[in-house]
Amino acid sequence: MAAPTGWARGISQVPCSAGEDQGMKIRTFDFEKHYDSVIALWQASGPGVRISPSDSPDSIRHKLERDPDLFLVAEEAGALVGAVLGGYDGRRGMVYHLAVRQAEWHHGVGRRLLQELEARLRAKGCIKYYLLVTVDNSQAIAFYEHLGMEVMDLHVMGKVIG
Ligand SMILES: CC(C)(COP(=O)(O)OP(=O)(O)OC[C@H]1O[C@@H](n2cnc3c(N)ncnc32)[C@H](O)[C@@H]1OP(=O)(O)O)[C@@H](O)C(=O)NCCC(=O)NCCS
Repeated sequence: MAAPTGWARGISQVPCSAGEDQGMKIRTFDFEKHYDSVIALWQASGPGVRISPSDSPDSIRHKLERDPDLFLVAEEAGALVGAVLGGYDGRRGMVYHLAVRQAEWHHGVGRRLLQELEARLRAKGCIKYYLLVTVDNSQAIAFYEHLGMEVMDLHVMGKVIG
């Protein structure tokens, strides 16, 4: 997920609920247990999820020093079926790399990951979060819009400083 301009961003309006359903469990990411599986999931998730240096083991460990409870995985029968990486800077939340194993699409996994993340963000005092989605990812945009988000008429600007 990285492009300089033309990205859509969304505001959550999804009611919060969370957790577990029909054997599928939402858990907090555990580096030793989940890192390799999550990277494999992201790598298999098509162009909507772009692995970057920020996803290296050191970078993820560094990220976990800040918001360890905002990195979630979905497991079914012990297997990883989805993941989402969230963050909160004290003002706004961010959502990165939401992905569900393709065989599990349309079974509610993405919704439950997002709802649990929203509940955890809300508990920290977060009232709005953003996410980035490539403009050509119509499938994900439809999913997010279905969950109450809206595309915002903004350009995302960025600068690599490291
Ligand atoms: C986007 C993604 C996470 C959705 O996960 P999912 O588990 O299939 O989504 P869910 O089954 O939880 O769907 C939740 C709701 O959105 C709807 N929905 C899902 N995909 C949709 C689509 N393409 N168009 C319209 N609605 C859609 C579902 O029907 C469901 O509605 P309901 O709860 O009212 O029945 C998944 O398709 C994915 O991993 N895509 C590839 C990675 C990617 O591009 N991620 C986005 C990065 S920004």
